[in-house]
Amino acid sequence: MNSPKKAIVITGGAGGIGQACARAFKGEQLIITDYSQEQVAKVVEQLASEGYSATGIACDITDKEDVDRLKDHVSKHGGLKALVHTAGVSGTVKDTKKVYTIDLIGSEILVDAFHELATEGTVAVLLSSMMAHTVPTNEALDAALRDPQGTGSFETVNQFVKGDSDLMYNHAKRGVLLLVEKNADKWGAKGARIVAVSPGVIETPMALKAAEEHPERMEMIRQATPLKRHGKPEEVAGVVRFLISDAAGYITGTDILVDGGVVHNIKKMGQAVA
Ligand SMILES: NC(=O)c1ccc[n+]([C@@H]2O[C@H](COP(=O)([O-])OP(=O)(O)OC[C@H]3O[C@@H](n4cnc5c(N)ncnc54)[C@H](O)[C@@H]3O)[C@@H](O)[C@H]2O)c1
Repeated sequence: MNSPKKAIVITGGAGGIGQACARAFKGEQLIITDYSQEQVAKVVEQLASEGYSATGIACDITDKEDVDRLKDHVSKHGGLKALVHTAGVSGTVKDTKKVYTIDLIGSEILVDAFHELATEGTVAVLLSSMMAHTVPTNEALDAALRDPQGTGSFETVNQFVKGDSDLMYNHAKRGVLLLVEKNADKWGAKGARIVAVSPGVIETPMALKAAEEHPERMEMIRQATPLKRHGKPEEVAGVVRFLISDAAGYITGTDILVDGGVVHNIKKMGQAVA
């Protein structure tokens, strides 16, 4: 009997980019996970009706027991081919602690847990954001971001962002870039890779919510984008697919911007946008 196919795990699998990533992997064994069991079941059923092979399990990525249950599920379903970590919240969540906990601490919990499942050829792709690239580098800030679960880490970062949840989002996403950098050796020792993808504005429920809150800011970003449009979830999924493939076998510890080229113009304007 053939051994079961290793799985591609998609966190935030009920979200816009998560679902587009799932659909980029026809023929693969998918594990869809998200916060709500109801949402997960709906997505798994929909994917099955479209001919995908998927199972699902709910998991709050900030809860270590939930993440352990997710790990068990992966082990029972053939082991880990890749982790595509898209779960996250934007600054529209007006709670800097929540943004930090979900976007950065949750990412670290997952990366640590999934490192145990990683074997030769495993790939982890973490969703950061182009906004991570707008955060000015600062030694004390980066030290706190590199150790998000450490004592005083949140308080230090919260001082830098002055309690602004949009700025906290940008900083937490810089933390994701540092997490990738920090883990490259550890994953590399297993022959495994870890990479970040930094999208610009991508038309998903998350972006639509931000657009409702800051319509003028979204239009300003569109105008400043060399391609004069926002991105589509499929355009992120295509890059994720490439990063997981053997064609990207020498890419690790780094980040790919998928932002229509806008981040350079945003940095030139020196404006804080979410
Ligand atoms: N859409 C954009 O414009 C954009 C731009 C830059 C970066 N990103 C990043 O890409 C990723 C995906 O974004 P999206 O647009 O698909 O967002 P989305 O809101 O459509 O999906 C995010 C998913 O994450 C899930 N989630 C949130 N908290 C969770 C938790 N604690 N545990 C488990 N699941 C949780 C949500 O339920 C949701 O289904 C995010 O990390 C986001 O920050 C998105």
